[in-house]
Amino acid sequence: MITEILNVSGDNLSDICERARRIWTDGGLVAFPTETVYGLGANGLDGTASARIYAAKNRPSDNPLILHIGRKEDLRPLVSFVPDSAEKLMDAFWPGPLTIILPKSEAVPKETSGGLMTVAVRMPSHPVANALLKAAGIPIAAPSANLSGRPSPTKAAHVIEDMNGRIDAIVDGGDVGIGLESTIVDLSQETPVLLRPGFITREMLSRVLGDIDVDPAITADAIIGHRKISGAPKAPGMKYRHYAPKAPLTIVYGDPLKVAEKISLRADEKTVILAPKEHTELYTRGQVLVLGALAEPESIAHELFDVLRACDAAGADRIYSEDFTSVDFGGAIMNRLLKAAGGNYINVKDL
Ligand code: TXA
Ligand code: MG
Repeated sequence: MITEILNVSGDNLSDICERARRIWTDGGLVAFPTETVYGLGANGLDGTASARIYAAKNRPSDNPLILHIGRKEDLRPLVSFVPDSAEKLMDAFWPGPLTIILPKSEAVPKETSGGLMTVAVRMPSHPVANALLKAAGIPIAAPSANLSGRPSPTKAAHVIEDMNGRIDAIVDGGDVGIGLESTIVDLSQETPVLLRPGFITREMLSRVLGDIDVDPAITADAIIGHRKISGAPKAPGMKYRHYAPKAPLTIVYGDPLKVAEKISLRADEKTVILAPKEHTELYTRGQVLVLGALAEPESIAHELFDVLRACDAAGADRIYSEDFTSVDFGGAIMNRLLKAAGGNYINVKDL
């Protein structure tokens, strides 16, 4: 299959929207930018079209998809009821990087919901995503547009790397803004539960909803001790190995000077080190890849997936990363980084 690359530039957005709409109504696949990561979209009401997404990504078919909508009122037909908590979250955070889970209506096929009785829905704020979704007029099922297991794509080049020849088209709308996938909140039960941390933090959600629960499987402790956790994560996608570069990755925590000293001692030219801009000078050996700046925590989130992909290109046979637990969005950043490391998180004393 030849994948069309549709570059958004000048005033061609409405032509691109029309092209994407045609592909989607014919059951095809179009990747597109959102404010979080690039999504791989198909008609979410057409089970056959949704099933093509799993094939293109090599994704297990029990891992449900998020439906993307262009207007708040597009939610109602997809769900069997809209609780107050959902109204409040939509008012506070939509359009934006928040996904809500509600009991699904009959309109949503099992291929989209991964066989669950609930459905995940979000309204992106990215202007290109919003224009595409409004033009499509149908809910678009879209996981992140990476091959299953690889880091989520934050640039069109990442999507091309993983999906060229596997899907109908890629809308290139430049680099995404946030760089981590949306926060997911399950509203299908009495108490809201945070299923995936993101740019919208637990604190921001609690300001709107009052206290909320957190799926114990997503905490750092659970990922580190992943063999010990009782019960599978509630968001099926959170149980799979994710984001992993080819070489083994170890996250080292402790005093930054000690961390840099010990890693430098062990490093050679095939060792890749992920460190924030402020610390790169501390390393005397190894290839240091700059992972954002501590002074701008959004930059760490924004660059994380790109830097994880770059580890492979750098020919790494060993990767070390600093710990980002204490920066803003540290919970969301570490959730991804710990998965990429397979829970490999050690004290500098033990290195
Ligand atoms: O930011 C995002 O959310 C991006 C962009 C493209 O919108 N999408 C994304 O999709 O990250 P994906 O498929 O990579 O991650 C969706 C996650 C998975 O972990 C999946 O298991 C979970 O959402 N999920 C979807 N529907 C669910 C449901 N009904 N109940 C529980 N978890 C659900
Ligand atoms: Mg994904």
